[in-house]
Amino acid sequence: MCGIVGYYGNNEKKEILIDGLRELEYRGYDSAGIALINDNLLNHFKAIGKLDNLAYRMRDFNSSGFGVAIGHTRWATHGKPTELNAHPHLGDYSFVVHNGIIENYKELKETLKSDGVEFLSQTDTETIVHLFENINNQIDNPFEAFTQTINRLEGAYATLIISEAMADTIFFAKYGSPMLIGFNDGEIFFASSDTPIIGKANEVYYLEDGEYGYIVDGEIKLFDKNGAKEFKRERLTPDKILAQKDGYRFFMEKEIYEQSSIMSDTIMGRVNDNGVDFDEIDDSILDGIDEIKICACGTSYHSALTGAYLLERSAKIRTSVEIASEFRYKDPLLSNKTLFITISQSGETADTLEALKMAKKAGLKSLSICNVDNSSIVRESDITILTRAGIEKGVASTKAFATQVMVLWLFSLYLAKKRDKISPEQLSNEIKAILHSPTSLKVDDNLHSKIHRLSKRYLHGHGFFFIGRDIFYPLALEGALKLKEISYLHAEGYPAGEMKHGPIALADSELFTIALMPQTLWYDKIKSNVEELSARDSTILAISPLDFELADDFIKTKEYDHPMLEFFEMMVVTQILALEISIRLGNDVDMPRNLAKSVTVE
Ligand code: G6P
Repeated sequence: MCGIVGYYGNNEKKEILIDGLRELEYRGYDSAGIALINDNLLNHFKAIGKLDNLAYRMRDFNSSGFGVAIGHTRWATHGKPTELNAHPHLGDYSFVVHNGIIENYKELKETLKSDGVEFLSQTDTETIVHLFENINNQIDNPFEAFTQTINRLEGAYATLIISEAMADTIFFAKYGSPMLIGFNDGEIFFASSDTPIIGKANEVYYLEDGEYGYIVDGEIKLFDKNGAKEFKRERLTPDKILAQKDGYRFFMEKEIYEQSSIMSDTIMGRVNDNGVDFDEIDDSILDGIDEIKICACGTSYHSALTGAYLLERSAKIRTSVEIASEFRYKDPLLSNKTLFITISQSGETADTLEALKMAKKAGLKSLSICNVDNSSIVRESDITILTRAGIEKGVASTKAFATQVMVLWLFSLYLAKKRDKISPEQLSNEIKAILHSPTSLKVDDNLHSKIHRLSKRYLHGHGFFFIGRDIFYPLALEGALKLKEISYLHAEGYPAGEMKHGPIALADSELFTIALMPQTLWYDKIKSNVEELSARDSTILAISPLDFELADDFIKTKEYDHPMLEFFEMMVVTQILALEISIRLGNDVDMPRNLAKSVTVE
């Protein structure tokens, strides 16, 4: 989830690129870099950390007259956030910037290495520029070399190349990662979203997957697999704030909608025909391990609870979950046969970090599941699996939770196979479901407007109970937390079977029960729990693919045959419900009162 910009024209390129990257800094700030060709001179600058570091490094640089330039702000996925791994990446005479993941980069790298190409970085991106030059050196036709390069890439990319081999052009290609082209009177801009070019360009073309091309005499030449292609420019909106949110009302809403595409990034390169593979994991970390303990806070704790069900069920490994702030002070009994997993979106949560330090001190091996590379928790852990959710701006976590759950699902299958606890048929069914999960996360417009309509009935009352069983119990906890965080209404998550042991005493028509009723896990069991509540006059909002007569309100979900697909779809429903209730109550959805995105105190 990096950001890229490109510029072709006569104006000062440094300003245009730094300004543009500033607008994209929310997409990543591990490092930034710019490469340009001005007066036929190739130049580049890189700096780790925030963009200000790059701006400082370029403070004495100016470029005037015609030139081409590309820039990048990085959110690390392959390789640490170092200067060597920062984009743009250099070949012998060209530079590349890239957003996305090249899935077959290892194969490409091996082939190029056997041709004598030397690699400087650990990134997948560097293969693009070497492949381009390797082909161009043979055929001496940069555009044809670029086309052949693009045809060899698997995965997702929005990429730009500038090269001394054709110094007055920018090569561009898009597949699976966003990119657009902006136009203004002889100037041409490229960017990952429209905010960097608002106020600079007046027309825009949003590239489609599979499109690529280059600039010839100030004109875009566009191609796809069928050859040359016409395209139509649109007028560009002048409203920057709206554009930052991609037209959504709140960042949280944008992040809910993003979950489907982001999940593809989380999965990418980690599943194949044989199962699940993690580049990050050195198998020796699992030697002698017979138990897992997961520690986390808040939303991450809920993904941990979900993961425990998956790990015990698939990998048949004893798994316990602890809230980090409790774990720290309970004098826990720790064994070095336990793998200690921490889960954290930010990687900076003080309680989780301290829990990790304690476990390490006791000699446990550690794995972190985290969204921010180089964060304190990542640095402290033996190994890390990054969730690749990109920056999450809404304080109430959505896409970070979804990607944590996905990583845990993948990890449970990885372990199941290593421990010989899963048959090839079961594994292949799981992989099928994993590959289908981006679809289950797509927000259906009709569903959203239905939730919007019915949300008006849920603005009062004396509380909400979200109930579910199995993995839908942690989802109930998370649904209740979302509602609490942004609506300030009282909500609890409960295991459905436990309601009768106390909480049912609260039941009346002003008690709202949000019932998660999947068809693939214990439907009849949860149905009877909901019937018990309905008999006590609780108002029931049922979320299920199966019609349920006793529901006062009903949200019909799709008929998936795998619990995790039902899980993801119901998760989206609970997120949108919280969002719509919060909006109706006039609350600040993205920055709810009393909360912080990252809690670095005890
Ligand atoms: C804060 C945030 C929550 C988050 C929790 C744990 O309370 O407001 O959204 O779940 O911290 O954060 P982490 O970054 O460790 O996942």
